[in-house]
Amino acid sequence: MVNALIVYGTRLGATASTSEEIARILREEGLEVRLVDAKKEKVKDIAGYDLIVVGSGIAMGKWTSEPEDFLKRFRGELAGKKVALFVSCGNAAPSPTAKPEEVAEARKKYLDDKAAQYDLHPVALGFFGGAYDYNNMPWWASMFMNAAKKDLIASGAKETKPGLYDTRDWDAIRAWARDLAAKARSG
Ligand SMILES: Cc1cc2nc3c(=O)[nH]c(=O)nc-3n(C[C@H](O)[C@H](O)[C@H](O)COP(=O)(O)O)c2cc1C
Repeated sequence: MVNALIVYGTRLGATASTSEEIARILREEGLEVRLVDAKKEKVKDIAGYDLIVVGSGIAMGKWTSEPEDFLKRFRGELAGKKVALFVSCGNAAPSPTAKPEEVAEARKKYLDDKAAQYDLHPVALGFFGGAYDYNNMPWWASMFMNAAKKDLIASGAKETKPGLYDTRDWDAIRAWARDLAAKARSG
């Protein structure tokens, strides 16, 4: 049995539902999965895991602090394990108005640079879009997102429920998780 740990940090909830879907696919692929919201639980030991997936939402160019704290605390031990990193962020939303160089820069900053910062050589990097629930948004987020709503709609974000704009490509997230399961199983 391949044991996987998913540790994520979220501010607005998107990374939680993305992580749940990754967990669902990994389980479907036969892995044993523990899913941890790093804001609610501090992981103490990673010895029993073959695959560690660490994910975060992005705000103002930054990861959430808890999964980053996880990377810091287990930096040495993670070097000997299969690790995957992913982010949920506005820059990853498929958009006809997105500038390719800005998307590439965001991917590098949020994923490649983060891996390098903790001396990691991830088996996979996931760059996924976000979700914006205008019905349920903290004040600091609505200040920013009310101004951005026009651009969000113009960029093709789908209103999947009233007030909820979801820019995630779920098929891409599932394909990423399936590929990750195959990598975790291979020697
Ligand atoms: C206040 C605020 C700031 C944001 N800043 C960024 C940013 O700097 N870069 C980016 O790509 N996305 C940014 N986003 C979009 C979020 O990354 C996106 O909503 C993501 O899904 C958030 O993940 P979470 O719901 O797990 O917290 C921002 C969103 C908000 C509300």
